[in-house]
Amino acid sequence: MTEREKNITLFIEYNGNHQTVETFAGEYRNLMVLIKDQVWVDGMGECGGQARCGTCMVELLNAGENLVVATDTKEAAVIRRMMTTQSIIRLSCQILVDETLNGLKIRVMEP
Ligand code: FES
Repeated sequence: MTEREKNITLFIEYNGNHQTVETFAGEYRNLMVLIKDQVWVDGMGECGGQARCGTCMVELLNAGENLVVATDTKEAAVIRRMMTTQSIIRLSCQILVDETLNGLKIRVMEP
């Protein structure tokens, strides 16, 4: 079996550290799982990706329209509860990792 080409590059910032991560669609269930695996953020993902806890929030520094969250979703309700209205703040557990993320700059917020 040949290794799949890693054609998605993400630039992740956490706690002042910058990391480049390469992956491919399907390697990770969602962006939260990728961050937990690659960046080791303590306390992230308490609800296991159910869009309830808000511990997986990320700031998307160069997000395209495809990543803006719809206002009538469970994710939007959690973000409102966390007292921010910036559309570039997302729950990373609600973002699928695919080619549309290639080149994305992500700042991981403290859980
Ligand atoms: S892991 Fe709980 S909201 Fe994302």
